[in-house]
Amino acid sequence: MIYSSLVRPLLFQCDAETAHTAVMAGTRLLSRLPVVCRLLRAMARPHTRPVQALGLTFPNPVGLAGGMDKNGEAPLAWWAFGFGFVELGTVTPKGQAGNDKPRMFREPRSGALVNRMGFNNHGAESMAKALETQARRGLRPPFPVAISVGKNKLTPDEQTAEDYAAAAAVVAPHADFLTINVSSPNTPGLRKLQTPEWLARLVTEVCAVTSGKPVLVKVAPELDGPKLDAAADAVMTAGAAGLIATNTLGCIAPTGEPAGRSGLPLRETARERVASLRRRVGDTATLIGCGGIDDASSAKAMLDAGANLIQLYTGLVYQGPFLPARITRGLR
Ligand SMILES: Cc1cc2nc3c(=O)[nH]c(=O)nc-3n(C[C@H](O)[C@H](O)[C@H](O)COP(=O)(O)O)c2cc1C
Repeated sequence: MIYSSLVRPLLFQCDAETAHTAVMAGTRLLSRLPVVCRLLRAMARPHTRPVQALGLTFPNPVGLAGGMDKNGEAPLAWWAFGFGFVELGTVTPKGQAGNDKPRMFREPRSGALVNRMGFNNHGAESMAKALETQARRGLRPPFPVAISVGKNKLTPDEQTAEDYAAAAAVVAPHADFLTINVSSPNTPGLRKLQTPEWLARLVTEVCAVTSGKPVLVKVAPELDGPKLDAAADAVMTAGAAGLIATNTLGCIAPTGEPAGRSGLPLRETARERVASLRRRVGDTATLIGCGGIDDASSAKAMLDAGANLIQLYTGLVYQGPFLPARITRGLR
């Protein structure tokens, strides 16, 4: 109520990235206050519905999707809002500024966001340092933490696999599992890494530096049919523990550049991809369903389609920080 009548109208007065920066400043501050975080979690009242997956225990199946907390600044705050896990990143080996602004846009009438961020992040070393400091101060949240890795924009094609492995090697000690992002539409050429050959290579090289921690691959919603089957076969054969479906739908930003659309327009496609993947990989793989989840019924539909876990990002922008807790209560 307070979010939709007061906070959201205020945030929506600013452009989308300014609002995001303000929210990150708030969550960063919150994550330094463990007592307040514990109080908030108690107030949020997420329903405990443990999920065993990837050799880990998730207090509930609702996670924060990649891209919200790109530098690992506020994991404890995400726990406070009721999430069951968080995916930090996407982080690249070297820090980079990302694309020129404006690069994040709201589409309130369709419950969507359009972004062309371009992996803006402070780099793997900086994230590792932030997470190390949090752990030292007792601020590591009591739920699984995933870290998403990607490549720098200026890295030549032939060094792509080295980039993924380099980022993974630096952040792996601070993660419970790693995710490989080959599906952002905002880094030129990234989606062409979804061929079986590239996927096998990336999974093999990342698994080699993660000391046995599970590795998942995040795919684009446009990957479908035989191509999706081949991608799933390749990542599982190479040693991945599962897949995340999906990243954003390719589109054109209001500024005319390529971008990705998230939120409600993605919901059905993402669910269909999860169902196809589940049919292909059987029960062996962990599937995380992501795209357009903003209430308990869309969350349930994604779980029914075959997801072990779910994630959201855009729903949080429209429905507020306690959405994950509300969803868990609706899933009872
Ligand atoms: C502004 C923005 C930035 C994003 N950045 C990333 C990213 O860095 N890494 C990633 O794997 N996904 C990223 N995503 C995609 C989300 O993780 C998610 O796959 C997508 O938004 C669909 O979920 P949703 O409909 O719940 O938002 C981003 C999404 C948005 C809206």
